[in-house]
This record gives sequence, C-alpha cells and structure tokens, in this order.
Amino acid sequence: MTDDSASGFQTDVPAPATKSEAATAVAEQPQPEEVSRNRPVVVTGGSGLVGTHLCRQLVEAGWKVRAIVRDAEKAATRIGHLRLEIRVGDIRDPESMRPALADAGALIHLAAIAIEKPGDSYEAVNTDATAVLLAAARAAGVQRIVYMSQNGANSSSPYRFLRSKGVAEDMVTTSTMKWTVLKPSVIFGPEDEFVNVLARLVRLSPLVFPLPGGGVARFQPIAVDDVALAARRCLEDSGTVRRTLSIGGSTPLTLRQMTERILVAMNASRKLVGVPVSILRPLIAVAERLLPRPPVTTGLLELLDMDNVVPENDLTATLGIDPMPFAPEELLYLRQITVSDAIASLFHA
Ligand SMILES: NC(=O)c1ccc[n+]([C@@H]2O[C@H](COP(=O)([O-])OP(=O)(O)OC[C@H]3O[C@@H](n4cnc5c(N)ncnc54)[C@H](OP(=O)(O)O)[C@@H]3O)[C@@H](O)[C@H]2O)c1
Repeated sequence: MTDDSASGFQTDVPAPATKSEAATAVAEQPQPEEVSRNRPVVVTGGSGLVGTHLCRQLVEAGWKVRAIVRDAEKAATRIGHLRLEIRVGDIRDPESMRPALADAGALIHLAAIAIEKPGDSYEAVNTDATAVLLAAARAAGVQRIVYMSQNGANSSSPYRFLRSKGVAEDMVTTSTMKWTVLKPSVIFGPEDEFVNVLARLVRLSPLVFPLPGGGVARFQPIAVDDVALAARRCLEDSGTVRRTLSIGGSTPLTLRQMTERILVAMNASRKLVGVPVSILRPLIAVAERLLPRPPVTTGLLELLDMDNVVPENDLTATLGIDPMPFAPEELLYLRQITVSDAIASLFHA
C-alpha cells in the first residue's frame, strides 16, 4: 500500500498486468458510458447519514472517493478511518467547488438540509448549490451525476422543502450530464433524524404520545445501507442513466404502525393519541422559536401528515436490492436514548 499524498488518497498499487491480462483489458475496455475508476467519485454530504454509509461502501468496492464536508471534525469522527480524501468546502461556494470537481470521474450529490437555520435556506442549499455543483462539474468535464432527491419532491410542490429539492431535480434532469435521480422515502439507521427524533419525543412523553393527524399518513422507511447501495449500483450500472428511481423499504407503514414498532424496539409503552395538525402547529411554532435545535418544524410537520410511499419500488424492481425491514430488531439502537439525551438534543447538534 502507498500513501499518495499529492492526491490525498491512500491506494493499493495493483500488480503489473501480464501480457494476456493486458490483451484482455484491451478487449474489455470500458464502454464510454462507464465511470473511470482511476478518477475520484466526489460525494457531497460525505459525513451525513447517507454519505457515511455510501463512502464506506464505495471505498470497500474499490472506488476512489473524495468526500466534500463542511465540518472537518465531524468528518474525522465519521469517515476519517476510511481510505478516502476529505475536502472541506461549502457546496454553495463556486470557488471551492470548482477545484473539488477538477479531476473527478463522477459526482454523487447528497448534501441538503431538511431544517433551515439562519443563513441556510432550502433555496440556497438544496437548489442554488446544486446549480453551483452542476456548473463546476461542467467546467471540469465531469459527465456522470447521481442526485439524491426525495420522494414527493416536485418543482411545483406547495411545500418549500419539497419544492427546493424538486427544482434541483429538474436542473439535473435537464442538464447535459449522464444523470440518475434517486427518490427515497424516509431513511432509517442509527444516526437518522426521523426515527431517532420520534424515539426522543417518546422519551420526553411519559404516558401519552401525540400522533400528528392521527398517524394515518403512510411511509415506506428504507434502511440507510440500502440507500447507499442503491447509489453505488447507479454509479456502476450505466443502465440507470437518464432514469429517475423511486426507492423505499419492504412495505408501507402508517406513522402509527411505525411508532408502535419504535415503542417495541425501545421496550416502552405509550398511549398513542391522534392530534390534528392544526392543534400541533402553534405548539411547534413556539418550540421552533424557543429551542436552538427544534426536533420538528412547522414545515416538516405538514409532511408527517401526507403519504410518502413508493408504489413502484425501483429498489427491488430495478436495482435488485432486497430491502431491510423496518422491524423492531433492526431498531434496537433506539434503546440507548435516555431522557437526558432527548433533552440535550433540543439544544445541541
Ligand atoms: N434522511 C432522510 O430521511 C431522507 C429521505 C429522502 C431523501 N433524503 C435525501 O438524502 C440526502 C442525504 O440526506 P441525509 O439524511 O444523509 O442528510 P444529512 O445526514 O443531514 O447529511 C447531509 C449532509 O449535507 C451537508 N451539507 C449541508 N449543507 C451543506 C453545505 N452548504 N455545504 C456542504 N455540505 C453541506 C451536511 O453537513 P453538516 O454535517 O455539516 O450539516 C450533512 O453532512 C439529502 O439530499 C436528502 O434530501 C434524505
């Protein structure tokens, strides 16, 4: 193994090819559609929930990876042990994105925000930064992009978050790049911000747990490792070029059914009580104003009251991935959440 410090990669040097191997290599030269493995795959949001799993899977599969992160310390903890290049940069900044894409073979664009902060709007991060990345990719001659959108994202959605992702999706699908768009339903995994948030709220509600809109909205939770594998398969399968793939878990579940499974996983018992969104909205608006890190915002509350399922699941049909079920035994990580963790999460990241 050598440490190629110029590129930041640590790489295993393959043994020199024999004459017959070289002849086979010429005969089997990659089709132009295929992504070169000699160039790095740039992964934005590399230290996020999906990014952490995707970077690990890509490295294990022999890809060179350049993870774009904005928090070096967080990245060191989450992906610092992997043989990849970590580059600190803000995807909104063309000056840092141009060199980040310079010699890349492909771009997997994951970075986005679900909760806005001062200076971090949906439009700036989810939409405008996608334009910055597309321009940087074009300037660098990068042809392949896998864009992680969102089930329900649409440029004409009345919900700002879904609209911001939908407009970005349109930019990608009307670009000249070889694109694939992935549209997952909600994602679960040890560091997720959906199931963990529900579990923390369970810890903070000793007897009764309120379900927005009665908890009848249906979701199709998908495991983070399945989402990461889906992105890797897209990169490796040129048959996915110019396709928009909706992906979800094994079965649709209502919010009530999901919460029941979460309670089993946590070994907890609560009375589940439906509460109209119109009653929760003002309470959440107050929490949003008072808490540095609100668990849910009024914008996201609306999304808990609408279906988020994928009737045609490309995870199995197109990508051949057998989804991990949303079963209590897969959610045992929730057991570790204590009341003090739940309180602390309202104040710190
Ligand atoms: N989680 C879900 O349930 C879900 C469902 C459907 C689709 N998706 C989509 O999947 C993708 C990945 O989501 P995720 O769950 O992995 O989200 P995540 O854990 O929040 O990761 C997103 C990453 O993007 C980074 N980021 C945000 N703004 C940035 C900026 N201006 N410059 C550079 N990096 C920035 C974040 O950095 P920091 O760590 O510094 O904040 C974070 O590491 C997103 O596009 C999301 O819309 C997620």
